[in-house]
Amino acid sequence: MSLRRLAPPEIQPPSFAFSAENAEWAKTIIAKYPQGRQASAVISLLWRGQEQEGWVSHPMIEAIGKMLSMPYIRVLEVATFYTMFNLEPVGTYLVQVCTTTPCWLRGSDDVVAACKKHIHAHPQTVSDDGKFSWMEVECLGACVNAPMLQIGSDFYEDLDGAATEKLIADLRAGKPVKPGPQNDRVSSEPLGGADSLKDPSLYDGSIIGKYEPKAPPPPEAKKPGA
Ligand code: FES
Repeated sequence: MSLRRLAPPEIQPPSFAFSAENAEWAKTIIAKYPQGRQASAVISLLWRGQEQEGWVSHPMIEAIGKMLSMPYIRVLEVATFYTMFNLEPVGTYLVQVCTTTPCWLRGSDDVVAACKKHIHAHPQTVSDDGKFSWMEVECLGACVNAPMLQIGSDFYEDLDGAATEKLIADLRAGKPVKPGPQNDRVSSEPLGGADSLKDPSLYDGSIIGKYEPKAPPPPEAKKPGA
């Protein structure tokens, strides 16, 4: 288990403030909770702060603590407990590579190798151009399309080393990329298309109400002496 600590003081920003739009949004979120329970908004505010800045800094934790009348240490506990909060600066694209067993069995080592080659040799380190950083994460719930990675809110699935390298290169070049499977697969169907449950009547409503359960067969008579 790794320790989660705030970034060192030398890279902490001097201050934090929500943008005007996010400050308005925060007010509406805090107002949803009964008087005295404003602390319940802490995860929402930390998440919005991270969306704004890319990571959670010491001044951000202090500012959110003040907004919610929470001691600094309690906001710090939340920020350091949940791994979805980045405690260090990240690149414009944070590449989260799943390396849990199903993805590992399907080749996540090659995905990691591509990240090491084209982003940085070490995880959680911003690339020289500032555009990328990468990290290993536990199962993201898309094992059927393993191996996969997440960038922002999008999943990129059915990867191999070459597909990962191309994805990084395209993002770096500002080219459009397609989330989802990076081979010819549609969703989680078999490669080459669906091969079962293909009868259109299953989906067009034409058989609704037409199902007639068959009566169970009568029990077999017991043979004498059986
Ligand atoms: S193991 Fe990678 S998504 Fe589940």
